[in-house]
Formats: sequence, structure tokens, C-alpha cells
Amino acid sequence: MKLAVIGTGYVGLVSGVCFAHLGNEVICVDKVNEKIEMLGRGEVPIYEPGLKELIDTNVEAGRLRFSTDLADAVNKSDIVILAVGTPSLPNGEANLTYIKQAAAEIGAAINDYKVIVTKSTVPVGTNEKVAAIIAEQTNQRFDVASVPEFLREGSAIRDTLNPDRIVIGTTSEKAQEWLTQLHSPLTDNILVTDIRSAEMIKYASNAFLATKISFINEIANICEKVGADVTKVAEGMGHDNRIGRSFLKAGIGYGGSCFPKDTQALIQIAGHVDYEFKLLKSVVEVNQDQRFNVIRKLEAILDDLQGKTIAIWGLAFKPETDDIRDAPAVEIIQTLLQRGASVKAYDPVATSNFSRLISHPQLKYCDSKEEAVANADALCLLTEWKEFAEISLLELEGLLRKPILIDGRNVFSEEELSQTSFIYYSVGRPNMNHGVRDESPVLLF
Ligand code: UDX
Repeated sequence: MKLAVIGTGYVGLVSGVCFAHLGNEVICVDKVNEKIEMLGRGEVPIYEPGLKELIDTNVEAGRLRFSTDLADAVNKSDIVILAVGTPSLPNGEANLTYIKQAAAEIGAAINDYKVIVTKSTVPVGTNEKVAAIIAEQTNQRFDVASVPEFLREGSAIRDTLNPDRIVIGTTSEKAQEWLTQLHSPLTDNILVTDIRSAEMIKYASNAFLATKISFINEIANICEKVGADVTKVAEGMGHDNRIGRSFLKAGIGYGGSCFPKDTQALIQIAGHVDYEFKLLKSVVEVNQDQRFNVIRKLEAILDDLQGKTIAIWGLAFKPETDDIRDAPAVEIIQTLLQRGASVKAYDPVATSNFSRLISHPQLKYCDSKEEAVANADALCLLTEWKEFAEISLLELEGLLRKPILIDGRNVFSEEELSQTSFIYYSVGRPNMNHGVRDESPVLLF
């Protein structure tokens, strides 16, 4: 099939290249000239494992190209996929400016029957708006469909090529037929719904996953007080198929381009129909506070942060990405600096993005994890990159000025710690003091 994909962010680029990989002819379109030029030179504007290789193969095979000419791409396609950004407005609502602009341009360009698919995460009713905007510009026949995207950064290609399900929201039989044909090489599990339900499925899924994370983080906070181990609790819960094992990793809270934005947007969507989504509001509040436990734990050990040097391992919101949008590291580092600490930060790939966001005389970006910890008073691990888990704790202990480790992602085990003299605080697990488990939790009863 012939496809135009509008928007070369994570979703657009990954979907475009994966559809090309399945044998379709794909033109990826973006307004930003530099991005298209970069892609044309074989450079990829985002870090995503395997993406560059897959782009190269499909460009070479003549199935994938990049362009700034939306009208031309629309003319040459059967299916037009909208994958432009829907960033948050200050009130949390999704900003639909780019969607509306793209819809108007598609409407002006349309020369034949097309199926217009929205993959961007958009509030309920947006696809109908898209249809209305296009219809204002043309008398050509077209249909719209909502096909939400569930890929995760860091495993975007694997997720796109092996989806758990494909949701197709449309009322048109022709669109349903074309889109089923397009997606059938990926999975048999294709669910066809009305448009509004498809739009809602995306928000509800992300909100539910965010809820699981905030839930387990609160359980972790209680575990710390009663002397239980949240990793064991999550394992015990996860064996119940009704609960499931995934998204029960306690930590410093979720970040990234989706959960924070989409939970806020769903709260706003509910608000517009006079419904207060109380549960989701709490999920957001718990998530916002969870990151500050790192600071509380540091202060519990070091007392005053003024004049202390704190090493930070991990800036990206999760491993295998250079994305720092809504990363907990942002507020944690800002707070450390406000409290008078010096910060030495290291991330395998996200440093340059982060340094464009925060620059401060007391913040030093380091080229290696060893450089970051050298002579620091404490180390905080904020992203569970594999290379952090691989370090010898004995070696690490020798590099730090004081063996203090706040592990925001529960990377290290009690067994590893028992060989060292670290003061070790993690999330929802017993503290370790000089190799020995602290058996004196604060019991509340
Ligand atoms: C998420 C959804 O998973 C995906 O379906 C949607 O399309 C976009 O949003 P993504 O943001 O890329 O994907 O990453 P994900 O792996 O879901 O992690 C999101 C955040 O939750 C990360 O900050 C991660 O550290 C955190 N997380 C995840 C936890 O704290 N605990 C967990 O158990 C799982």
C-alpha cells in the first residue's frame, strides 16, 4: 500500500519505517526542514535502538523516503497517517494546533479517495473534527479512522512489529478493510470499534498503567515503614493473572512524553463533561511527590545538602532513550541545586538533551559514570541503565568520598550490598547499613 506519514517524531518515524519494512511504500513528511535534511543524510534525530539500521535498509530498498511536501505525499498515497505532536497546554489539555493544521493541508491537497488515520493521542471527538476540517477544503470522498499507537520508547520497533493488539476505530467499511489489510501482517488481534471508543482506549490504557505505577509506589512507601520488601510484594501480586506482573516496579515515578501528558489530558477531558476523575488526580499527585523521596532520603542521611557533592546516574526518563521529557531527574537535580548542593551528572545518551535544558555553575555533566562519582558525598541512581547494574560495588565504594547510595530504581540486591559498607536506601525495600539489613522500620501500630 502507499502511505504518507505526517510528523517524524517517535510515533511517525517508527510507524513509517515499520510499515515500509512490511513492504509498503512510505513517505514520511515533516514541516521542519532540518529534520528532513538530517533523515535524508541518513541521520536519525532521536535515539531509538535499531531505528537507524531499519531506516537505512528501507531507504536503500526504495520503500521509504522523507519529504517536506505534504501535498505531494498525500497525492501519492492511499492512506494518510497523522502522527504530529499533541503537547500539553498549560492547563493540561492536549494542544491540537498541529493536528488541525495538518488536517487543513490534507484537505487542500486531497485528489482522490483516501483513508485518513490519526495515530497521535487526541481527545475524544478529534477525529470527527479532523473530518470536518478536511471536508471544508474538498469535495473528494475520504474516511477517517483512529488507530492509537501503544509503542514504548526504547523498544519502539519491537513493540510496533509485535503489538499486543491493533485498535481500529472507524465507521467506514472501506477504511476498516484497508486498515485491517495494512495491519494484518503484525497481528491477528485486531479490534474494530467506533471512533470515540478507539480514542478513549488510548487514554484509558495509559491512565491505567500510570495508576499501576503510582499504586505500587504507594505500597513501596508503606513497605519502607513496616519493613516489607515491595519487590516481593509486587511479585506475589503479579502471579495473580487478574493483576499481572507488568508495571509494578516501584521507583521514583513515571516520566516521559506520554503518561504525564495523557493523564493530565484525560483529567481535562473528564472535566469538560463535568466529571471529576478523582482517582487519576491522585495518581498524578502521588507520581509528582514520589521523586522527592530521593531528596528526603539524602537529607535523612546527610542532614544538610548545602556544600555537598551529589553524583547522579541517569537523566533520561527511562533506559534506552535520550528522552528527558518530564524525567524525574529534572526536578530532583533542580531541588539539589536549590538546596546548595553541587551535582555531577552522567547519562549514557541523554546528557546533551539535558544540558540544553539545565545549565548551572554547580552542575557538571560528566563523560563517564566513574567521573560522576569521583569524590562525591553520595550517589543517586535515577535511571536503570544496564551499565549501572554492571559496576562492581566494591570499586564504586572506593570512588565515592562517602559510601552513600540512593537507588531510585531498585537496581542492586541485598546480596551485592552485603559485601560492602554502603549506606543504601532504595524504594520500598529495607535499608542497608554497612552490609547489614536495617531491621528497625518505623512500625505504625
Ligand atoms: C508509554 C506506554 O507504555 C506506551 O504504551 C505509550 O504508547 C506511550 O507511553 P513510554 O513512555 O515510552 O511508553 O515508556 P514506559 O516503558 O511505558 O515507561 C513509562 C514510565 O513509567 C517510565 O518513566 C518508567 O520508568 C516508568 N515505569 C514503568 C515505572 O516506574 N514502573 C514500571 O513498572 C513501569
